[in-house]
Amino acid sequence: MKKLLATLASGAMLLSLVGCSSASTAATAAATEAAAATEAAAAASGKTVKVGVSIYKFDDNFMTLYRTELQKYFGEQTDGNTYQVDIQDGKGDQAEQTNQIDNFIQQGYDVLIINLVQSTSAATVMDKCKEANIPCVFINRQPSDDDMNKYKDDATYGGKYTYVGADARQSGKFQGEIVADLPNKGDLNGDGKLQYVMVQGDPENVDAQYRTEFSISQYKEKSGLDVEQLDMQRGDWDQAKGQEIVANDLSQYGDKIECVFCNNDAMALGAAQAIEAAGRTVGKDIYLVGVDALADAISLIKAGKMTGTVYNDHVSQSHKAADAAIMAVNGEKLDQFYWVDYIKVTSDNIDTYNK
Ligand code: BGC
Repeated sequence: MKKLLATLASGAMLLSLVGCSSASTAATAAATEAAAATEAAAAASGKTVKVGVSIYKFDDNFMTLYRTELQKYFGEQTDGNTYQVDIQDGKGDQAEQTNQIDNFIQQGYDVLIINLVQSTSAATVMDKCKEANIPCVFINRQPSDDDMNKYKDDATYGGKYTYVGADARQSGKFQGEIVADLPNKGDLNGDGKLQYVMVQGDPENVDAQYRTEFSISQYKEKSGLDVEQLDMQRGDWDQAKGQEIVANDLSQYGDKIECVFCNNDAMALGAAQAIEAAGRTVGKDIYLVGVDALADAISLIKAGKMTGTVYNDHVSQSHKAADAAIMAVNGEKLDQFYWVDYIKVTSDNIDTYNK
């Protein structure tokens, strides 16, 4: 059989050679072959692109999903380049992160992807990157508009930096709507007001600021009811802190609390533990919402132990961040912002929300 195939193949080759008798056909074939060879050579000799990533801290549930997906996506690129991705842990310390950035620059990295420890450090990071002419993609912690505009129209650095993220106002609004859309609008005691506790992330972060503000303003607008804030505390995005804050609030305010808003799911998971420990039942005598759609939060919603969450699309965000980095390395001009939508998640769409 092998022999037969070989004979057929060489026959076919002979036929094709005979077929290419005219000079112009031969020239076209040669040109096509040459082009294919150049392409193959380019792919084979693709460059190694050094990508320096610093995450504000590794010990963050959401950013762990994000960085894992980022690394994976770079590894899946098929443009012939090799992406050498170095992801460092900022350990919640701006000085540590600045040091990492200095090292990336010194070692001639081609592009940086930075999840700032403090968003107010954006200008300093941009100054450093501009000086070294290294493109920079900010992720997750949005710098101020002033900082983002700093080199917008600069002849050399304009279009070489960007922010990739999701508009936290939208996630806050979705939280407010989840509660306002409940049949009783969350007003368990029927006094025309929603008594609530707000567990904030790091208040320096716009995600925390916007979620805190817009969850409540949208709740009021959608429900037509008033609100009464019983407590607001910073939980720094952390499950243990969320648990502690809500446990204290439950013992202080007891049945008065109708709803717990958490700026993220990690803190909502902690809140859910505290609620269960206090003998309260979500959906019956209290409501609880978060943001991120972590797998554990999704399980709690399925089990009726959380009212809802908002999907913070780390997959699209990490892909866009990598795409922007690759574009910049290839000399393409970047937009100032790339946005990804949030998605409301309740028991109604839990199996289909990210399909
Ligand atoms: C996420 C939080 C995360 C924070 C880190 C937010 O967008 O919702 O879970 O801790 O980013 O900056």
